[in-house]
Amino acid sequence: MKQNGKLIDQFEEYLLDHLPVSKTFHPIFEDALGEMLKAGGKRFRPILLLSLVQGINPLLIQNAMPVALAIEFLHTYSLIHDDLPAMDNADLRRGHPTLHKTFDEVTAILVGDGLNTHAFNILANAPLSSEVKIELIKTLSSDGGIDGMIIGQAIDCYFENQTIELEKLEYLHIHKTAKLIASSLKMGAIIVGLNQKVINDLYNFGIDIGLLFQIQDDIIDETATQEEAGKTTANDGAKNSFVNLLGLDGAIKSANDLAKKCEDSLSQFDDSIASALTSVLNSYFYRHKK
Ligand code: IPE
Ligand code: IPE
Ligand code: MG
Ligand code: MG
Ligand code: MG
Repeated sequence: MKQNGKLIDQFEEYLLDHLPVSKTFHPIFEDALGEMLKAGGKRFRPILLLSLVQGINPLLIQNAMPVALAIEFLHTYSLIHDDLPAMDNADLRRGHPTLHKTFDEVTAILVGDGLNTHAFNILANAPLSSEVKIELIKTLSSDGGIDGMIIGQAIDCYFENQTIELEKLEYLHIHKTAKLIASSLKMGAIIVGLNQKVINDLYNFGIDIGLLFQIQDDIIDETATQEEAGKTTANDGAKNSFVNLLGLDGAIKSANDLAKKCEDSLSQFDDSIASALTSVLNSYFYRHKK
């Protein structure tokens, strides 16, 4: 927890020093670009990546910072678009009015587009070898793109008001949320040069914690106030959320079962990896009580 706290502080400082710049005569665009990044958030994805790097080769932490930032840019773009009226139509995000509320829809769409493309610019310019950077770009563009988050979001929105079966529900949430989370671990593993087998194992572990993260998020939508969550809640009425499909108790049970599976599967990793991941899991997941 303490270690994560220090990493988050380092990451926040790095982020503030690397906010995207757009110095033109547009009166609001630069403010809009930085608004949601500065608003905070849990920073789960960058902390996953940085914790893994810290646990295996702390000398690479500065080289990994831009990669962590790129993931957070892509994630923040996905939230800005997710909140748009055409998608989830939400008014509050990270304790602030959503970007289209503070500014306007055109600005929110273009800021999202900008953060998406800039994420890959950051990766391309990171102080890492070209081979490593190509692997990172392939990974983020796949898990955060049409093979991952995008198709997940497309299915999430297309199937509003139509119940899909459990297998498709898992497909939806693995793509919408879990792949980008798994990608964060995979990118950390690529930076420190782990072998392909461990990279694959970490990715699969990441899919499980990503699913757990989304179940927890669906429970938050059902049970938390918007003040507690810092975002619009009670907004999943039409969605294929875990709560809607399994009921609140079913979703809680499913989260607890998956949390147990994740804890148990940590033993497959070396001590340095297992202890790095244990501390992240302890900070970000809680056992649900009925
Ligand atoms: C929210 O992500 C969207 C999901 C994929 C569940 P986070 O809960 O990580 O949002 P922030 O980054 O903390 O705002
Ligand atoms: C969004 O899932 C996942 C993204 C890819 C952004 P949600 O729609 O459940 O996220 P929240 O609850 O609005 O944060
Ligand atoms: Mg959504
Ligand atoms: Mg949403
Ligand atoms: Mg949600």
